[in-house]
Amino acid sequence: MLESTLTDLECTRCGKLYDTEQIQTHCPCGGPLYPRYDLETTGAAWDRGKGLAGRPQGFWRYADLLPIRKPENRLNLGEGGTPLLEAPRTAERVGVSRLLVKDEGLNPTGSFKARGLCAAVSKAKELGVTELAIPTAGNAGGAMAAYAARGGMNATVYMPSDTCVEFIDECRGLGAEVILVEGLITDAGAAMAKDGEERDFFTIATLKEPYRVEGKKTMGLELAEQLDWQLPDAIIYPTGGGTGLLGMWKAFAELETMGCIGSHRPRMISVQTEGCAPIVRAFHAGEEYAGMWENAETLASGLRVPAAFADREILMVLRESDGDAISVSDAELLEATYHIGADEGIYTAPESGATIAAVRKLVEEGRLDPSGTIVSFFTGSAYKYVSGMRQGVA
Ligand SMILES: Cc1ncc(COP(=O)(O)O)c(C=O)c1O
Repeated sequence: MLESTLTDLECTRCGKLYDTEQIQTHCPCGGPLYPRYDLETTGAAWDRGKGLAGRPQGFWRYADLLPIRKPENRLNLGEGGTPLLEAPRTAERVGVSRLLVKDEGLNPTGSFKARGLCAAVSKAKELGVTELAIPTAGNAGGAMAAYAARGGMNATVYMPSDTCVEFIDECRGLGAEVILVEGLITDAGAAMAKDGEERDFFTIATLKEPYRVEGKKTMGLELAEQLDWQLPDAIIYPTGGGTGLLGMWKAFAELETMGCIGSHRPRMISVQTEGCAPIVRAFHAGEEYAGMWENAETLASGLRVPAAFADREILMVLRESDGDAISVSDAELLEATYHIGADEGIYTAPESGATIAAVRKLVEEGRLDPSGTIVSFFTGSAYKYVSGMRQGVA
């Protein structure tokens, strides 16, 4: 059985170290905590990728680079191992030579959120937590409810009251208590914090606990392995709280230290919507932090995140990678979502459509080399957006 090589938790901003055997949240300085590993031992075991042969497929294939120590705490619903698909008709439609899509909608509960919540809930179980709470735009709540149920724990989900009914039903169907809050995910977070003064639950808000990012990291590990350790030229990622973007960036750094890849990095490109684009605005204004986006509104509910806790880290990755940030309108992303379905046979979430609408715009504006290998992250399936997409069409 693979052993985790987790050593410490380190604040990304001030470098302070924290004990991995205690329940941790984030650093008082405001920085997220990142798990650190014994990369020498892991690198030797991976042997530039050759050492992975014979390991199980999927998420737990990388268990030595994940934080859960005891195998019995590694919750499993079949997460990860999602396909990386060529999308030739979409490539032609948006004017690029090679477009690959990572179809994360095939994860348990239909989104990439399964990865982060699988890691965070498993680790919480390992540390003896029995009551969990989360503020969510929708997908993360369903994923947490599923893994909490799998681990025999209780889940409370705080969600904007106007979230598509499918998300609400899913959480209830997975045994969670759902608390609907007027407003946005930030208001849901505030309501959760207030309730937390009286209720004894552990909260798994994006990057305010250290392990969701580790689950998301597996997208980067998988992508590298699927591309035979040659990273693409650009990654197009629909950005809300940014854990996926940060997780992949962390994966690439660890893979380089382990000797699996060289120093080449993809351009990391964040996509948001015109109705909620705090990262895009801050990126182009040269800001270190992204301010709050007022009156956020978009059909792509996962991108309706007016303020990201790790805004500074997201902006750093975009800049370090010579990346970019772009917003698209709801009409553009919806049109792209329907085209993907008809062109490629993938019934994908509007957030995924946003990445394709973005590729088209970036190419048209001369901001993306159309001859490179471009990977777009299709972060969820459309099944939970049916009611919202109908309204968007009407
Ligand atoms: C389908 C989908 N895509 C993208 C995002 C944004 O992800 P992140 O918070 O990792 O930036 C979300 C978040 O809810 C989502 O549900």
